Amino acid sequence: MKGRLYLITGNPGKLKEIKNRLDGLDIELSTMEEDFVEIQADTLEEVVFFGIEHLVGEKRIDRPFIKDDSGLFIDALDGFPGVYSAYVQQTIGNDGILQLMKGMDDRTATFKTVMGLHIPGEGISLFRGEIKGDITLEKRGFFGFGYDPIFIPEGSERTFAEMTLEEKNRDSHRIRATMKLVDHLSME
Ligand code: IMP
Repeated sequence: MKGRLYLITGNPGKLKEIKNRLDGLDIELSTMEEDFVEIQADTLEEVVFFGIEHLVGEKRIDRPFIKDDSGLFIDALDGFPGVYSAYVQQTIGNDGILQLMKGMDDRTATFKTVMGLHIPGEGISLFRGEIKGDITLEKRGFFGFGYDPIFIPEGSERTFAEMTLEEKNRDSHRIRATMKLVDHLSME
């Protein structure tokens, strides 16, 4: 595929991360802010799929676009905040998560991204990326956004927020999903 592709998001952090990985392809990535209807669902896949159907069916968006949804799934909290990650980040935030996990030895968690691509006439394709890691005991670092200060990806001693964009982009849930999207687009 060549040309312009839109990322539906109000989050400049996501744009930077994805854009960085599309370098080299003949694709210009721009953001488009649209009200995204987040249905209440058990999986990120359903949230993304039905959200895209709404954008196409109700909002009549007829351009190629991607919409991603991510979530932090903490094992000791049975996968919470998971599909509620945005709401939890806005309400109790990272301090609230650390408080909830006070005294818990099992700090393992998985960050997941589901990226949905809509190309007019071709329908919707979903690409998944996930990375395991640990929740810290305290917030560390100032880069990135969201849960970055409390998540240490596997194989690292630093949180995502202690990494530069380039370092985080070497491997992350979003990058794993983006690479699958890039493979797909390269074959178009
Ligand atoms: P959404 O995909 O924007 O709905 O993300 C859900 C929540 O997870 C939001 O609060 C984001 O800030 C947070 N989030 C998404 N991706 C990341 C990430 O790469 N690092 C840290 N937090 C993230």
